[in-house]
Amino acid sequence: ITAMGRMTPPEQIFQKTRQMLTGGDQLKGKKVVVSAGPTFEPLDPVRYLSNRSSGKMGYALADAAAAYGGKVVLVSGPANLQTPPGVQIVDIQTAEEMKRALTNHCRGADFLYMAAAVADYKPSSYNKQKIHRSAKSIKLDLSASPDILKNLGTNRPKVVVGFALETENLEARALDKMRAKKVDMIVANNPMEKGIEFGSESNRVTIFSRGGTKKKLDIMPKFDVAIAIIKESLNLAGRKKRGKK
Ligand code: C5P
Repeated sequence: ITAMGRMTPPEQIFQKTRQMLTGGDQLKGKKVVVSAGPTFEPLDPVRYLSNRSSGKMGYALADAAAAYGGKVVLVSGPANLQTPPGVQIVDIQTAEEMKRALTNHCRGADFLYMAAAVADYKPSSYNKQKIHRSAKSIKLDLSASPDILKNLGTNRPKVVVGFALETENLEARALDKMRAKKVDMIVANNPMEKGIEFGSESNRVTIFSRGGTKKKLDIMPKFDVAIAIIKESLNLAGRKKRGKK
């Protein structure tokens, strides 16, 4: 029989092939949660506070974790990116919403990769109507948004990986964050370095882990960085498990 057929979109064929080539199955049967992108903290119906995160690193992590066979939930702030195949997406806007979604999805999870650039501060009050230009200057009152990593409580997955984006004193700050946020690994980078600016397709990171190891990686595509991060966290999970026995 000859008939019209519909071809699978080339992107899907590409994704699937790449998954088959790069993915082991070390995350098979594991629940993986990834957070990505910025958060939007509304000021009035038309304005918000946010940051320059593109979400690309988090989406690459979700993609790579799915390639490794994980059951992946991606909690994402506003990002203009395609959801990787096989990944469950949960869209959120604010830090509060991200906290709620993560608390919910981290229950019983094995790995959390917290790549989102959560706003540290949000406007203390929300104006129901658009704020109009009147005075020469206005003051914005900001209050701290919840520190999600620090407060995961009993929902904390077995292995938690945090990210640190620093423009100075990268190592000292990353190590401080690892302690303060009780994470097993910190992936640090400096967006002011050439070639890895916000929104770029590549990244150059240093991975610090709880055991005191430090791994500086070369600049490479974000998907390859994601694979390296996942491999490192799998090693760490193995060490943790052996340590417990
Ligand atoms: O913004 P900061 O450098 O503190 O981020 C370090 C880590 O903490 C990141 O993994 C980020 O996703 C997380 N974070 C968080 N809740 C916040 C701010 C950051 O979980 N309110």
